[in-house]
Amino acid sequence: MADKQATLTVDGKSYDFPVLEGSVGPDVIDIRKLYGQSHMFTYDPGFTSTGSCESSLTYIDGEEGVLLHRGYPIGQLAEHSSFMETAYLLLNGELPNQGELDTFTRTISRHTMLHEQLATFYRGFRRDAHPMAIMCGVVGALSAFYHDSTDIADPEHRKISSHRLIAKMPTIAAMAYKYSVGQPFVYPDNTLSYTGNFLRMTFGVPAEEYEVIPAVEKAMDRIFILHADHEQNASTSTVRLAGSSGANPFACIAAGIACLWGPAHGGANEAALNMLQEIGTPDRIPHFIERAKDKNDPFRLMGFGHRVYKNYDPRATVMQKTVREVFDALKVTDPIFETALRLEELALHDDYFVEKKLFPNVDFYSGIILSAIGFPTTMFTALFALARTVGWVAQWNEMISDPGQKIGRPRQLYTGPTQRDYVPVAKR
Ligand code: SDX
Repeated sequence: MADKQATLTVDGKSYDFPVLEGSVGPDVIDIRKLYGQSHMFTYDPGFTSTGSCESSLTYIDGEEGVLLHRGYPIGQLAEHSSFMETAYLLLNGELPNQGELDTFTRTISRHTMLHEQLATFYRGFRRDAHPMAIMCGVVGALSAFYHDSTDIADPEHRKISSHRLIAKMPTIAAMAYKYSVGQPFVYPDNTLSYTGNFLRMTFGVPAEEYEVIPAVEKAMDRIFILHADHEQNASTSTVRLAGSSGANPFACIAAGIACLWGPAHGGANEAALNMLQEIGTPDRIPHFIERAKDKNDPFRLMGFGHRVYKNYDPRATVMQKTVREVFDALKVTDPIFETALRLEELALHDDYFVEKKLFPNVDFYSGIILSAIGFPTTMFTALFALARTVGWVAQWNEMISDPGQKIGRPRQLYTGPTQRDYVPVAKR
């Protein structure tokens, strides 16, 4: 029995609901019995005030700009951890010791190869197909090849399919890039790290040795950590909803990829760099800020604003620092970075953005780094999907292993016609 109660009174009738407390963050009002008691629904399009599940994976304090994975601050994980270590943490709840990390990393590396017939799926796409279209198709097709790990009731199947998805996403993403530039696919080299393997499969060519640049490998691995998981965002909620029907994990992750593609979500990293390139020089920034403030103009500052963060996205802080590190390592620069810094400075001093608490988010600087490393903008969201597969898989496992899990089935406020009789066409 919850200690705290909430009471709802409608037309003089009162309904009591338990208030549940988490380990940190807002309490929730458990309204599961609302419809049965009152024949009413709550109404929350966009889920601005709705908790969809209980989870112990990731905690966000949007007012304070805090992001924790299993209690560990994202800044500390980005600084000291690796993507494989963070993946283990999200999947298992604790940081691994060296033996556990080595075993996990070796297991993942043994699943990096794709069934050879999957390569033919790529040849069905035009060369200029968007990599996210390819990712949606190929990841969805995985369930046609790995029947031996689609029984979601079997914990061993869940474990194998989780490892397969995490391991194969770099191979699938790298192949999407190779296909788009007409170069041969490069097979995984499991003597390399997870991220080094991905860089070699993407930028290596059969004709010569590929040397992984440690600073680039570290920056890429850190970018993967920053994108690993983020509570119940749109694509994670999509994966959970798909999984609640009992769909196989490959289909659920394909659904997450489709949702992530939207420019309001993971597609914002591609849109943000395109926007910065359209702005070009700092003198053109005021014009675009005015457009972003104009209610009659659909233009928004891409990479700015967030449903939860009403403070600086802690991932953007790390991302901005990483831009400088990659520029130094590659001895390159990009005037777009100066434009981005100036845009941030002007926006954060503009009443519109201050009042609406709009800050740079994870997508604002990431494209500048990815572009400096050599990725085309069309690959940015595919890289986001590669990294977020860890969070999607961890959230899916948490949901499926909950014995109380039910299929997700929201209701509605109906405003259409009430019942009426059919009229034959001759009488209309
Ligand atoms: C990600 O949920 C997650 O955790 C997502 C993510 C993750 O890791 O999974 O963090 C990844 O998706 C980051 C967000 C990437 N998207 C963008 O950068 C696209 C640009 N941002 C916006 O479209 C918007 O900020 C959203 C979609 C991110 C959030 O939208 P909300 O929460 O629905 O807020 P809203 O659209 O109601 O905006 C509130 C107000 C509105 O003005 P009013 O109608 O109240 O007058 O702020 C304005 C908006 O017009 N606004 C912006 C703006 N973002 C919001 N105005 C100009 N530029 C913007 N970027």
